Amino acid sequence: MEVIIVPAAQDVGMAAARLISRLVAGKPGAVLGLATGASVKPVYAELVRAKVDLSSVTTFNLDEYVGLDPSHAASFRAYMETHFLGPLNVERGRAHFPPTQGDDLAGLCEQFERDIRAAGGIDLQLLGIGRDGHLGFNEPSSSLASRTRIKTLTAATREANRAGFGGDEVPLHVVTMGIGTILEARHCLLVADGSAKAEAVARMVEGPVTAMVPASALQLHPRATVIVDELAAARLSLRDYYREVQRNKPEWQR
Ligand code: GLP
Repeated sequence: MEVIIVPAAQDVGMAAARLISRLVAGKPGAVLGLATGASVKPVYAELVRAKVDLSSVTTFNLDEYVGLDPSHAASFRAYMETHFLGPLNVERGRAHFPPTQGDDLAGLCEQFERDIRAAGGIDLQLLGIGRDGHLGFNEPSSSLASRTRIKTLTAATREANRAGFGGDEVPLHVVTMGIGTILEARHCLLVADGSAKAEAVARMVEGPVTAMVPASALQLHPRATVIVDELAAARLSLRDYYREVQRNKPEWQR
């Protein structure tokens, strides 16, 4: 796992946006796996600011609330419309979201997996991390081999995601790519900032691989990059080593 420590949240956004724009410069039709939440906002803001041409990419979002109308302000589709699809002018027919409506959600989840494969697989999966170490909406105890499916949120995650729902209840159920789905992306790029994420980041990077910290599964990925600010890096015991690695990175490895 490559760990990159930068001063602040804005720098996390810039560093992650640079990796995405480099990928798309070499492969304009790249397939991006995308996340929502506060941590990835600076990444999208930087892509917009730098006017990166993402008009030919195909996107697959990680997760969505079951039964929530896509026009609801708190839906992840609405978030993506505001922060990514609209400002970056992405062809909407190539923007995919996990299924959340219909009688046969399990069948539609399988179709979503087939759609990812038909698109050639995900080149780069952008990820945030929950305070409990969740990845997408794969809560602790999720199988590390899981695929896209319905999950039940923990009370803590529903509380953390309350913003945007106003007086409405945060849905209990979601559809999320599984850990197994995420691990098939050719490059996993996780971003985190702030002290509230320090414990989860340390357990993900330096703790044992365990379903109790779903993000720790990234230790099994051959190409996982973690970009964190100083606050989120505070509990990493090897943080000086990670800095040393970055400072001395040979040109061929950049
Ligand atoms: C949410 C999302 C995740 C996101 C994480 C962190 O529940 N489903 O994809 O990465 O929690 O969110 P934030 O960046 O807002 O802290």
